[in-house]
Amino acid sequence: MQRLLDLRLGYSEARGTEALRSTLAATYANTSPDNILITTGAIEANYVIFNSLLDDGDEVVVVDPAYQQLQSVPAAIGCHVSYWKPRTDFGFRYDVADLTPLVTDRTRLIVINTPHNPTGAALSADQLQEVYDLAEQSGALVLSDEAYRWLEVPGGAPAIPPIRNLGERGISVGTVSKPFGVPGLRIGWIAGPVDIVQKCWAMRDFITLSPGGLNDALALIAITHRDQIAARTRHIVEQNLDTAEAWFARNADLVSWTPPQGGLLSLMRFELDVPSYQLANTLAEEYSVMLAPGAAFGYEGYLRIGIGAPPEVFRRGLDETERCLRHLLASGVKKRS
Ligand SMILES: Cc1ncc(COP(=O)(O)O)c(C=O)c1O
Repeated sequence: MQRLLDLRLGYSEARGTEALRSTLAATYANTSPDNILITTGAIEANYVIFNSLLDDGDEVVVVDPAYQQLQSVPAAIGCHVSYWKPRTDFGFRYDVADLTPLVTDRTRLIVINTPHNPTGAALSADQLQEVYDLAEQSGALVLSDEAYRWLEVPGGAPAIPPIRNLGERGISVGTVSKPFGVPGLRIGWIAGPVDIVQKCWAMRDFITLSPGGLNDALALIAITHRDQIAARTRHIVEQNLDTAEAWFARNADLVSWTPPQGGLLSLMRFELDVPSYQLANTLAEEYSVMLAPGAAFGYEGYLRIGIGAPPEVFRRGLDETERCLRHLLASGVKKRS
C-alpha cells in the first residue's frame, strides 16, 4: 500500500514499467521485456497491431463470430476479410479443416481468439499448432487474442500455450480485464517479436502514449497474485456451472447450451419465437438481466451468457430469465417450430 501511495504520477514508461513487462515476459517462452508492450486494454493492443501490420488490400482471415473490432478494424483498413466459422451442429466448435482453404499465400494475418467470445469454444494445443503451421506455410502472421487466458473451466478444455510460445509468427494479446476481473484498470499487452512490438509502440505514441502509472502498478499486483485470483475465480465458476446445469435441466423445454470449454462465455439457444434483440431488451428493461442478443453475433435464436458473476447474482439472473421466458410463453408467444 505504501508503495502505491509513494508512486510518482509523472508520465510513466512508454512501453509499461520494466517490472510489469518482465513479470509478463516470464509467462511466455523465449520472451524478454523487449517483446512486451503494455497497452490500454486488449482493445488497444489489437488496434495498434492491425494498424501497424495491415494495408489496404491485404487478406486477413478472422474467426467468426468475434469480438467486433477483430473483424471491423481490418475491414476499415480496407483488407479483404474472410471468416473462419464454427460448426454449429457440433456445439460451436472450430475445425481447422474449415480454416485451411481460407488461407492463401496472400494472407497477411490470421486472427484467432481462444477461449472464444462469444461461444466458449477453445482450440486444443494440436489445433493451435495446426493454425501456426498454416501461417508458416503461407507466410502469414497469427494474432491470437488471448483475453480469456488463465480462465480454464472445470470440466472444460485444458489450458494451451500462448501463440507466442510457438514461434516468431505468433503475436499474443493479453489483458487483466477477464482473468483478474479488473477491466477498469485498462491494462492489456502485446507479446510478440521485437520488430513488431516496436512498430506498435511507435504507433501507440500517437494514441495514448503510455499506460497509467497507477494502473500499471495495480496490474502488476494482480498478475503476481494470479494463482490466488485464479483459485477464487474457479470456485465462483464451479458454483455457477452447477447452478446452470440444474437450471438448463429444469428448463430443457425452453433453453439449451454447450457449457464453455474455456473463458467465461457461451451461447444459449432459446426456443421461443421472438427476436433475440427483443428478448434481450425485455430481459434488461423488465428483469434487470443482461444477456447479449445472439443476432449481434450473427446467431438469431441465441443469447450470450456469462458465467463469471458472483454466484448469488448469477442464480438470481437465471431465475429472472426463467420467469421472463415462462411469462412470454404463458402470454401467447409461440415456441419455434
Ligand atoms: C475477445 C476480446 N478481446 C478483447 C477484449 C477487450 O478487452 P480489454 O478490456 O482488455 O480492452 C474483449 C472484451 O470483451 C474480448 O472479449
